[in-house]
Amino acid sequence: MRAVVLVGGFGTRLRPLTNNTPKPMLPVGHHSIIESVVSQLARGGISEVVLALGFRPEPFVAAFPDGTCAGIPLTYAVEPEPLDTAGAIRFAAMAAGIDGTFVVVNGDVICDVDVAALVAFHHSSGAEGTLHLTAVENPSAFGVVVLDGSGVVQRFVEKPAPGTETSNLVNAGTYVLEPSVIERIPDGRKVSVEREVFPLMVADRTLFGLATDDYWLDTGQPHLYLRANLDLLDGRRQHERCAAVAPGATVAPSATIRHSVVGEGAVVGDGALVEDSVLLPGASVGDGARVRDSIVAGSVGAWASLLSCVVGSTATVAEGLELTGARVPDPTA
Ligand code: GTP
Repeated sequence: MRAVVLVGGFGTRLRPLTNNTPKPMLPVGHHSIIESVVSQLARGGISEVVLALGFRPEPFVAAFPDGTCAGIPLTYAVEPEPLDTAGAIRFAAMAAGIDGTFVVVNGDVICDVDVAALVAFHHSSGAEGTLHLTAVENPSAFGVVVLDGSGVVQRFVEKPAPGTETSNLVNAGTYVLEPSVIERIPDGRKVSVEREVFPLMVADRTLFGLATDDYWLDTGQPHLYLRANLDLLDGRRQHERCAAVAPGATVAPSATIRHSVVGEGAVVGDGALVEDSVLLPGASVGDGARVRDSIVAGSVGAWASLLSCVVGSTATVAEGLELTGARVPDPTA
């Protein structure tokens, strides 16, 4: 079975990390998010992946020069302009000639769902589409779903106003779809699967949902991206683990790395402290600097102090500077 993986978004909420790197190409542990997504699909019996690309296709092509990811053959469908989620599904499915049941995954979701079980449920219920659902504490940031006793989606409301949610079950970003769904998507314009296509299927009672309680996390915001890394480090994933410090990182013997992921080629100077943080490949932390609850892709000067900050790959935090809750450079400036 084939899967379309949506990777063409702008990743605005993760700026500045996504200024130069598409969100699915950012690492969780020492592998990219997209590798984790494709590995999970492979475990669920997916044999070919179509990457639905728009914004910045080049890093994907460069990262998988032999045309495979996690051992799965890739094809690329590059939209001439961003078509939004349903437009991207249609474009990729048409480009790849998909004519049977297929899977769609958001390329920024890290999860342990059993895709084969989702497909089996889809076939046994005779659904036109099946959504993987997960329970969350704050559903208003997601597509909120109400199911009836047989798994038919009765309501799908994308990002309802806080306090108006009618369920804590949300769209977890993995779908099994029949090709008839492609025909529901208008051609040649932006179409949101969550706002336009799913509500039509709900009205026709052809959309089903299957809730699971395995590991699930949407990496789209800095605190969640950080958590995805620390969860992997803490052994919370079913099939994946990661070492705290990549073999190609250089950490001074007098530095302290506590509950953090230090990427390939990162450098940590004498007496520095890195705690509850992620240093991306190539990041540097100067002598005596303190980095806590932060994500660093760029450079932190000696004796600087960061708490809950995000430092982009081209940024330098000046020596001795103290920052709390900052994004460097500021994406809103
Ligand atoms: P934000 O800008 O922070 O909202 O991130 P995003 O652009 O990734 O948007 P969102 O998280 O809502 O997107 C969900 C998934 O759909 C992600 O994997 C995106 O890469 C993907 N996506 C969103 N819009 C498009 C699009 O127009 N084309 C393609 N191919 N993928 C898209």
